[in-house]
Amino acid sequence: MADHAAMEQLVALCKRRGFVFPASEIYGGINGFWDYGPLGTQLKNNIRDHWWRHMVECPPIGPDGAPLQIVGLDSSIIQNPKTWVASGHVGGFNDPMQTCRQCKKLFRSDHVQDMLSDSPWYQSLTEVFLQESQGEQAASHESVEFDAEQLRRWARDRKRGKKLAPGLAMVRDTDATLAWIAEEVEKTPQRQYGVAEAIKYLATERLEDTGPVTPCPNCGGDLTEPRLFNLMFESYAGAVQDESSKVYLRPETAQGIFLNYKNILDTMRVKLPFGIAQIGKAFRNEVTPRNFIFRSREFEQMEMEWFCPPDDARQWYEFWKAQRMDWWLSMGVSKENLIFRDHDADELAHYSQACVDVEYKYPFTTPNFGELEGIAHRGCFDLTQHQEHAKCKLEYFDQERNERYLPHVIEPASGLTRGVLVLLCEAYTPDETRPSKVFMKFHPRLAPIKAGIFPLVNKEGMPEVAQKLYLELRPHYTCQFDVKQSIGKRYARMDEAGTPYCFTVDGQTLEDDTVTVRHRDTQAQERINITQVRKFLAEKIDQAE
Ligand code: GAP
Repeated sequence: MADHAAMEQLVALCKRRGFVFPASEIYGGINGFWDYGPLGTQLKNNIRDHWWRHMVECPPIGPDGAPLQIVGLDSSIIQNPKTWVASGHVGGFNDPMQTCRQCKKLFRSDHVQDMLSDSPWYQSLTEVFLQESQGEQAASHESVEFDAEQLRRWARDRKRGKKLAPGLAMVRDTDATLAWIAEEVEKTPQRQYGVAEAIKYLATERLEDTGPVTPCPNCGGDLTEPRLFNLMFESYAGAVQDESSKVYLRPETAQGIFLNYKNILDTMRVKLPFGIAQIGKAFRNEVTPRNFIFRSREFEQMEMEWFCPPDDARQWYEFWKAQRMDWWLSMGVSKENLIFRDHDADELAHYSQACVDVEYKYPFTTPNFGELEGIAHRGCFDLTQHQEHAKCKLEYFDQERNERYLPHVIEPASGLTRGVLVLLCEAYTPDETRPSKVFMKFHPRLAPIKAGIFPLVNKEGMPEVAQKLYLELRPHYTCQFDVKQSIGKRYARMDEAGTPYCFTVDGQTLEDDTVTVRHRDTQAQERINITQVRKFLAEKIDQAE
């Protein structure tokens, strides 16, 4: 079952400790937008910097033992709008959307079933069905019989029915719906309904016309037919606001790379195969942003386009697939929480010949997994499109093969902000034995604060010694110097911030130059010489596996 309580606790910790805040909170927020607080920004930057290091500054060694060549880019968010016509986003970057006829809320069609399972009224009605059914039937959640009287009570109970699902036909017109159901049941007295199917039967008064329909996750009302909705954010460049000045905020960083492919080829002495990497903001007017920062309307991506000879593309696809999984594991994400999921032919994006997702077991998808990164074989779709639309030559002259061709592209595309969510979920560790009852077990390399430096008490010469240590470490590690509150409270703060080590200067320090090191994960304490603290951090953080 999706663990909504765990998610609520994580969101609360993120707010309490300054990882993530709702955007425009003092104005009541704005759906689909989030602000990263001091710790969230640092965590995000740490992930970003590791990705950049792995991709651009020190890319992996290739299958033939030679180091790969990947260069960086920072292209504009707003490009010539023809870019997005060529890429297929203006015409085809659509999600099917439905509106509720009762409460007027909008839903992405492919999210309705999931949202329904999570909605309080649906869960409540499911319980009613299950309570009334017996033994194995109840356990299986699959097959239950209607109990008209129990349902009638549910619908008429103002508190539950009207409050929970005011739009459900069963609640709006109990008798009409029940009469229809009774007829149905009478026709086939032995018939048993699955819970989901039964709830669908309760959703509309027009059952004879429509048959069972999926009700609105919010109020139970009828949903309209799906219609397509374009996800591009539009704006205008310049003083005149008309069709000719219309521009789009980029929905992916990838296209900026394709637009600069020729510039890079001409200026950087690269030859195939090579990559171009970019990290930056992307914007999608998502119909149903949800699950905290998982699906937002403004987010950050880390994308790399790997250009290679067409014949080698399949081999590189496999190479990058393995690399990307290894990279997430090296970020401290546990193996059992990550899987690969190959896309079926019918779910491939318009540009893609093959695609595999790295998926993570989020609390809200458990026991299932949700997307973290996609690795796509884009063929030569993008370069072909831009070549045609911009009327320019983008072919590569391969001197070794003495031929001209459009390179094929393998694209590892991950969400940076989604990566932040994965590391937050992964780090969240309840622990009843400590005052904070929870600690954030970040990989030491990614922890926003690497060390806390505390005097045990704010007197007797301890703050001065602690501050000297802080000044020594500060140029090398993100440290926090804190003199306020009891030492227990300071440790508790650092546990929630995910700080792997705290160093405390106490009475004994003044006598023998030793400080206490407190280990976040075990709460164990040991003493080391104050002159060894920097070396200790180097071993524990810089050389951590
Ligand atoms: N250039 C290919 C591309 O953009 P995508 O699968 O649409 O592919 C790549 O996006 C990654 O960006 C996703 O795997 C996900 O991590 C992240 N992402 C996409 N939409 C997002 C959203 N609305 N909010 C947060 N992250 C998102």
